[in-house]
Amino acid sequence: MGEIVAGCIAPHPPHVVYADNPEQNEPHSEGGWETLRWGYAKLARKLKSLDYDAMVIFTPHWQTYVGTHFLGLPNFKSKSVDPIFPNLFRFNYDINVDVDLSIAMHDAAKDAGIITKMMENQDFRVDYGTIVSAHMLNSEWDKPVVPISSNRNRHYYSVEVMNEQARALGRACRKAILESDKRVVLVSSHSLSHRHFTIEPPLPEDMSKQHIYNHSNYVWDMKLIDLMRQGKMQEVVDLMPEFTEQTIAETDSGSFSWMMEAMGMPDYPAEIYGYQSVIGTGNTIAAWDPNPETREVVL
Ligand SMILES: [Fe+2]
Repeated sequence: MGEIVAGCIAPHPPHVVYADNPEQNEPHSEGGWETLRWGYAKLARKLKSLDYDAMVIFTPHWQTYVGTHFLGLPNFKSKSVDPIFPNLFRFNYDINVDVDLSIAMHDAAKDAGIITKMMENQDFRVDYGTIVSAHMLNSEWDKPVVPISSNRNRHYYSVEVMNEQARALGRACRKAILESDKRVVLVSSHSLSHRHFTIEPPLPEDMSKQHIYNHSNYVWDMKLIDLMRQGKMQEVVDLMPEFTEQTIAETDSGSFSWMMEAMGMPDYPAEIYGYQSVIGTGNTIAAWDPNPETREVVL
């Protein structure tokens, strides 16, 4: 029987990879955003201590308009360039996919009445959201991943519809994982508040220029993190549409609601690993550990 061993909020500003200077990324930096990167390093160490087979990543930057798509070939190798920040992120990736798990989740979603497709184009370019979250959580890339696209129901309907669809997808993915023989880490790749500045400082990693866009976004972010600490996840999911509208949050992708539903709506505290602004956006790193023996109070 399969198991979900952890769920993580893993924000994907390309800045954190840029700041880390991994050999795969072409631009060079003098560092920056340490609060996020140190938090990521701590969570990555924890994931190393867990026994798992694959990482399933729901990403807002693989946007599909007809159904939900799942990566369906064993390896993808190319260069990913962030369209907004090509000066920060030109990453040479070589990604292994757990195709069996991908097909299992695809089939379960299809059986549940969700429109689905396996992405089997070998030239498909993997989005930077998937790559940033996966790299920061496992820079050795020694576990296969399964990226899932974000269907943009919001643009046809509303944030409410998008969240309900994402929750249905979460239930299907949970069923597929539990019926498999896989131990899985779930990753919800997104910031919290997402209002950002439109002008970049001359030196991107100049930390004297980094702060939240406005106070109301900060208050919203802290409200959500406080509820996460208390384990009130149903309340967070219920707030998602309003939070998303008010802060232009990346949770419009549905990834957070998907993960909470897939985890069976945790009623225990999240582990908080950090919070920091990147060009005005609010970013937290958080994890849910279903095992009370290994669950920690981190920050
Ligand atoms: Fe993003």
